[in-house]
Amino acid sequence: MEFMEVVRRRRSVRKYRPDPVPQAKLDRMLEAARLAPSWANGQCWTFVVVTDAKVKNALAGAGNEWIEEAPAIIAACADPAKSGEKGDQGYYLLDIGIAMEHLILAAADEGLGTCWIGWFDEQKAREALGAPKEARVVALTPVGYPDEEPEPRPRKLLGEIVRKDRWS
Ligand SMILES: Cc1cc2nc3c(=O)[nH]c(=O)nc-3n(C[C@H](O)[C@H](O)[C@H](O)COP(=O)(O)O)c2cc1C
Repeated sequence: MEFMEVVRRRRSVRKYRPDPVPQAKLDRMLEAARLAPSWANGQCWTFVVVTDAKVKNALAGAGNEWIEEAPAIIAACADPAKSGEKGDQGYYLLDIGIAMEHLILAAADEGLGTCWIGWFDEQKAREALGAPKEARVVALTPVGYPDEEPEPRPRKLLGEIVRKDRWS
């Protein structure tokens, strides 16, 4: 798909068909994440691809029961020590945000649905994944063939969000 078409077509999908996701599609999504830029090229990320029913159930139990129906869930985790800081701002969140969006756009290009999940009990997610205590579980996404076609959500107009040269 042409890049802007991928960007326009991506939606947050919250209903999935049970069909498994072909490994080649997952591999291309993960490759897109691997190529993402990061603070000082620290690549602070680990992506856990969950297809095991028990692990999916435990991960869904961290606050989003509905994600269990997706054939796969990807957890994007960070080691903040491998990223950077500016004042009180930890850049691992940005690193993960960029890499995860690469992955999510690659999924859209593969005809797959995803949904950013930022709200979950991190401790429960860490336990479900067996991740070490220094790992931050930053975001989750279900992955699978969509079983719904959500309408585009509203967006602000460019005129509302862009300023030229100076704020006012
Ligand atoms: C950082 C981030 C966290 C999000 N967390 C959740 C979440 O916990 N649960 C959920 O259902 N959707 C979550 N979303 C999805 C947003 O609600 C969604 O992107 C927004 O409503 C726009 O819809 P669209 O993605 O279909 O364009 C999150 C999105 C982002 C970018």
